[in-house]
Amino acid sequence: MIEVHQLSHSFKVGKKGSEKEIPVLKNISLKINKGEIASIVGRSGSGKSTLLNLLSGYISPTSGDILIHDTNVTKFNEKKWAKFRLDNLGFIFQSFQLISSLTTFENVELPLTLKGIDSAERKKMVMSLLEEVGLHEHTEHYPNELSGGQQQRVSIARALITKPSIIFADEPTGSLDSETEKEILDLIKQLNKEQGITFFIITHDDEVASISNHKFHLQDGVLVKGGAVVEV
Ligand SMILES: Nc1ncnc2c1ncn2[C@@H]1O[C@H](COP(=O)(O)OP(=O)(O)O)[C@@H](O)[C@H]1O
Ligand SMILES: [Mg+2]
Repeated sequence: MIEVHQLSHSFKVGKKGSEKEIPVLKNISLKINKGEIASIVGRSGSGKSTLLNLLSGYISPTSGDILIHDTNVTKFNEKKWAKFRLDNLGFIFQSFQLISSLTTFENVELPLTLKGIDSAERKKMVMSLLEEVGLHEHTEHYPNELSGGQQQRVSIARALITKPSIIFADEPTGSLDSETEKEILDLIKQLNKEQGITFFIITHDDEVASISNHKFHLQDGVLVKGGAVVEV
C-alpha cells in the first residue's frame, strides 16, 4: 500500500551563495500494508512532519522513492499530486485546520465540491457521514462554536467524505484532553476495523501509538523499529 525506499531529505537554509544543507531524513525505508494502523513516534524536530509532507507530495525528496498503491508517485507534478490526494488520501491535523468561515456541513462538503459532485448528492453524503460521526446536531455550527473534540470529528469527517484508502494523521490528538483523546482514538480504531482504512499516525505520545499494529521510531532522521534500523 505504502512503500518507501531509501528516502532522504535535506532542507536548504541560509542566504543564496552561502546556503547550507540540513539533512533531516536519512535513508528511510518502510512498508505499510492495507488495513494497518502504523505509527511513527519521535521527538519534536526528529522529522515526522517532513516524512508526512513527502508521502503526501507537499515537498519532493532529495533522493529515494515513494510508492503508493504500486504507483511511483515520487516524481508527480503538483497537478498529478492534487488529483492523487483527492482520490486516495485523507488528512487530519493537530490544529484541525477547518475553515473558520464555513459551517460543519460546508467544511465537510468542500472536498466533494472540488471533486465536481452535484449538490443533491453532496447533501446526502455529508448528512449521512455527520450522523455517523455523531455531529448531526452541529451541522450549522461554525468551528469556534464547537469543542476541540467536536472540531476534530469535523476534520475526520472531512477526511472521510471522499472515501480515502489512506488517512495521514499528524498529532491528531495533540490539542485534546485525555478523555477526548480516547474518543478520537476509538473512532480511528472503529474506522480502521469497519472500513479497512489504512492509518498512518504521527505522534510523540505512546498512548496514541498503542493503537497501532506497527510502531516505528524516528531518531535524528533515522527510522528504527524494535531497536534496529529499518531496512526493506
Ligand atoms: N521548510 C523547512 N526549512 C528548513 N528546515 C525545516 C523545514 N521544515 C522543517 N525543518 C527542520 O527539519 C527538522 C524536522 O522538522 P519536522 O519534520 O517538523 O519535525 P517533527 O514533526 O518531528 O517535529 C527540524 O529541525 C526543522 O527545523
Ligand atoms: Mg511535526
